[in-house]
Amino acid sequence: MKIKKCLFPAAGYGTRFLPATKATPKEMLPILTKPLIQHGVEEAVEAGITTMAIVTGRGKRAIEDHFDISYELENQIKGGSKESLLTEIRSLISKCTFSYTRQIEMKGLGHAILTGETLIGNEPFAVVLADDLCNNGEEDGVLKQMIEIFNRYQCSVVAIEEVPKEETHKYGIIDGDLVYGRDDVYRVHNMIEKPDSKDAPTNMAIIGRYILTPDIFDILKNTKEGKGGEIQITDALMEQAKHDRVVAFKFKGKRFDCGSIDGFVEATNYFYNLKNSNE
Ligand code: G1P
Repeated sequence: MKIKKCLFPAAGYGTRFLPATKATPKEMLPILTKPLIQHGVEEAVEAGITTMAIVTGRGKRAIEDHFDISYELENQIKGGSKESLLTEIRSLISKCTFSYTRQIEMKGLGHAILTGETLIGNEPFAVVLADDLCNNGEEDGVLKQMIEIFNRYQCSVVAIEEVPKEETHKYGIIDGDLVYGRDDVYRVHNMIEKPDSKDAPTNMAIIGRYILTPDIFDILKNTKEGKGGEIQITDALMEQAKHDRVVAFKFKGKRFDCGSIDGFVEATNYFYNLKNSNE
């Protein structure tokens, strides 16, 4: 089955960026001139996906306005030197459809994904957490690489990266065995949400890219609150992993944790240098 839809959980408060995120969604914080969520949508489009399903919450209307026409502004700059600055976003809007649903209560990433069921239906889909910004230069983006893995193994796929052992408490951590003939795909047999380093089976961390099979929704409906009292996608995926239905993929490319100030600044510098070297 083809992956046609991408879900963006975007209801979180972004408290680490207060006061910037008091009235602005964290997904709208820009790396150079482009909001984080636009980077995510572009990655999905590159992977052949054009249906974007966004789980929003209170105070997130700027996201909907961003993926829409702004008549007054566009009329004002029409024919002038600034018009070209909107070319990319206009082309994105014309290629994609965007649909939205609201998460009323914040009960974790698993709960946010379950809220998106109404937009996804009964088909496999991608998930992008916009605060993990990925880049693979001129080569295939992370989501595109993951879709190839999904096509091959026909089960849920999580993107992983090795992190320093003392940082395992920030991530879902997997354990698994390399599949025959590959050095970048693991059949997952254990997953733990944000373990202390002493309890972490490995240092292989899940980053904010997933391909999920739709049975995840029924599993999520029966998933109890886990770490932090929240419904965790990691716990739901563990149910699939018990039946060998999850692979972890060590993607090619860079990933910036733009949910942290350090990662955000690092991404800004990286894209600034990239832009200057291309000019
Ligand atoms: C979520 C997941 C976690 C994953 C991380 C990737 O955590 O729960 O398993 O490693 O995203 O960014 P969050 O960063 O939302 O706390």
